[in-house]
Amino acid sequence: MKKLMLVLFVAVTVSWTMTSCGGKKEEAKEGEETEEAYDDSDLAEPKKESSEDLIKQGQVLVDQSDCKTCHHATNKIIGPAHADVAKKYEFTQGNVTMLAGKIIKGGSGVWGEIPMTAHPDISQQDAEKMAMYVLSLDGEKPADR
Ligand code: HEC
Repeated sequence: MKKLMLVLFVAVTVSWTMTSCGGKKEEAKEGEETEEAYDDSDLAEPKKESSEDLIKQGQVLVDQSDCKTCHHATNKIIGPAHADVAKKYEFTQGNVTMLAGKIIKGGSGVWGEIPMTAHPDISQQDAEKMAMYVLSLDGEKPADR
């Protein structure tokens, strides 16, 4: 008899527990985290600077430097008009490098007797941008870039 009582007791306890707590179903958690769709277009390789950008930077550099004391875009002053320089030389990487060297070291004898002063504090990179700007003045596009 004792055994039956125990079974009943257990059964009652269990059913009571079931009704009091078991009724509440835990709400399903929204476990799925929304994965953010990453836009990786920014991670694409940085574009090589276009020659138009370099020419624009060159124009700014020329404007900021002392070039205007001796050069005008279209008129000869002390130095040749930069547009005339553009007409004389083809827009090639070789000429960009050559003219950049002249801007840094100075030059003479090509346009007349008056020499161009040296610009030792201008970097090769900046001088090349300036040369590109000068060479663009006749509307020519870079030939081999
Ligand atoms: C003191 C005056 C003076 C200044 C300042 C000057 N130039 Fe010149 N530039 C000249 C003269 C003069 C020539 C012609 C030299 C020659 O006959 O070889 C010349 C020539 C050039 C040439 C053509 C070189 C060639 O061999 O055909 C370029 C390009 C040039 N200058 C760019 C510049 C730039 C860019 C600046 C500014 C950073 C500048 N110059 C500043 C006087 C100057």
